[in-house]
Amino acid sequence: MKELRFDGRVVVITGAGAGLGKTYALLFASKGAKVVVNDLGGGRHGEGKSSKAADDVVAEIKRNGGIAVADYNSVVEGEKIIKTALDNFGRIDVLVNNAGILRDKSFPRISNLDWDLIQDVHLKGSFKTTQTAFTLFKKQGYGRIIMTTSTSGLYGNFGQANYSAAKLGLVGLSNTIAIEGAKYNIHCNCITPTAASRLTEDIIPPDIFNELKPEFIAPVVAYLCHESCEENGSIIESGAGWAGKCHLIRSNGALLRSNMADAVTIEKVQENWSKITNMENAQHFNKSSEATMFLVSALESIREGTKTSSNNDDVNIVD
Ligand code: NAI
Repeated sequence: MKELRFDGRVVVITGAGAGLGKTYALLFASKGAKVVVNDLGGGRHGEGKSSKAADDVVAEIKRNGGIAVADYNSVVEGEKIIKTALDNFGRIDVLVNNAGILRDKSFPRISNLDWDLIQDVHLKGSFKTTQTAFTLFKKQGYGRIIMTTSTSGLYGNFGQANYSAAKLGLVGLSNTIAIEGAKYNIHCNCITPTAASRLTEDIIPPDIFNELKPEFIAPVVAYLCHESCEENGSIIESGAGWAGKCHLIRSNGALLRSNMADAVTIEKVQENWSKITNMENAQHFNKSSEATMFLVSALESIREGTKTSSNNDDVNIVD
């Protein structure tokens, strides 16, 4: 099998001074990429800053014979991080939005600061870096972007309402960037990692923690960022040496009126609830217009007052 390399590519990784980001940086550099190792070097709750984290990773890459430069900006000023890539390497091909912090509290205890810091680092940070990079990607007709989401955002997790909101926000951001970027060969995908790091050391039980090496996830991220990878607008979950694709799906649903004169009533909703929530034959849409088209065909069925609509039988209303 041909080795997948990144020679000549410039890769920016945010939060690359530790954990997953560091592992990504080491892998990309070992495969020929010139890497911008961004890290603010603060604490896990967003406090303080230091140049040490990024410097140590750059030193390790250089010791291994690779090429890298450190950047100490906060992702909130993401445009400066992209400028570091241009100033040092003259271009950018890949952006991995990875920087992250936690401010876990049960929902009623989340302060405005807990909310704002989380949205700033995860959501605004990814917006700032990506918007600056996107303009350059568009000009050169090539770019690969990763957003880092979380199972907490996709499925929910006690004590992480602020983080979950930001992480699912990144999925929305990625979905639309993927659509806007497609015609310029700009791909945007989400990674949903589960890995041992300082963010998870007191969350994941020790026996499992030791088996969740970031090294198992880095190749998945690198593949998504390779020129040969055609994936776009996807969510890839990965950890422990496993990877899978995650979809938002919606049930086939039920018609709540059988002809144009019918009213939709609360009782009709109750009557159809098992059908509305039956996930058999659930569907995924690649853009919101596909969901709208589905509604148009539902309306068409109602308009025709068909047997399907009057009986609410098991007929796929988009057929
Ligand atoms: P980590 O704490 O080891 O690494 C995160 C890095 O981001 C740190 O080095 C930190 O200094 C840097 N950082 C924080 N705020 C920054 C800012 N404003 N600007 C620049 N750098 C900043 O954590 P880990 O686990 O490697 O997390 C990486 C990403 O993966 C995060 O976005 C996290 O939310 C996400 N994630 C991690 C999971 C896991 O199981 N480790 C699970 C789901 C998501």
